[in-house]
Amino acid sequence: MYTNILTSNQNGITTITINRPAKLNALNKETIKELHDAFKTADKDNTTKVIIITGSGEKAFVAGADISEFADFSIEKGSELAAKGQELLFDFVENLNTPVLAAINGFALGGGLELAMAAHFRIASDTAKMGLPEVSLGVIPGYGGTQRLPQLVGKGRALEMIMTAGMIDAEQASRYGLVNYVVSQEELLPLAEKLASKIARNSAVAIGAAIDAVNAGYKEGIDGFKAEIKEFGNCFGTLDFKEGTTAFLEKRKAIFPGK
Ligand code: COA
Repeated sequence: MYTNILTSNQNGITTITINRPAKLNALNKETIKELHDAFKTADKDNTTKVIIITGSGEKAFVAGADISEFADFSIEKGSELAAKGQELLFDFVENLNTPVLAAINGFALGGGLELAMAAHFRIASDTAKMGLPEVSLGVIPGYGGTQRLPQLVGKGRALEMIMTAGMIDAEQASRYGLVNYVVSQEELLPLAEKLASKIARNSAVAIGAAIDAVNAGYKEGIDGFKAEIKEFGNCFGTLDFKEGTTAFLEKRKAIFPGK
């Protein structure tokens, strides 16, 4: 069904694997579209509780946007590239109500790091290398990198990474808070699945509300605390809340109706 990505679904976890290893999984237009479709499908699928995004092969998560596609772009086409990409993939992923975990298995550069940063959190293999090398090409990050990197690591570290165009290794990314855990390549997907299973046991509806509340704090003109009050209140009208509280009082495990 897809040309550039693979998807699998097991135990409530949909794994999306970007699969252009010969091009280090670089994001061309078609891959971005396929990723949009795959994320949308998984989000709508009632059996999917968590989405893991990773790259095929051992070398790269994603080595960036596909440079060959935009090398001759005009100002207008450049703006459109960023706007379309943000809408279809990066903002789309960040605002999904299904949790998205990025398992960074190698190079996560440019659009690759931006995709990982759009996920709700990240883990990395000890071979991973991360960076925003765009200024070395005469351009800047256009898929949210200038916004999400400072949010995650702080302005000074983000600007150092952006201005030097350099790469940091997984351990440094962990010290920066850019990734939550660093493990060996072999342990990466098992850890992602372990974390995903832990998430999948909880209320999908409440998790979706928590994502919206956390994201609200990063949106211009929106009061995150007010958004939290609204989301908190809404939970009281959900079947998941009834089930969660009833199960606790009955000293049994909750079986959430879900999204
Ligand atoms: N866009 C398009 N093609 C890319 C790519 C990208 N972002 N990143 C890698 N590739 C392609 C290479 O052109 C090469 O293709 P070819 O074999 O047909 O020539 C293939 O992937 C393998 O990459 P290569 O550069 O030979 O691997 P390497 O091990 O020598 O270097 C990197 C790895 C990641 C350091 C290097 O590929 C690189 O710097 N990539 C671009 C990173 C970047 O600037 N990303 C931001 C884009 S805005």
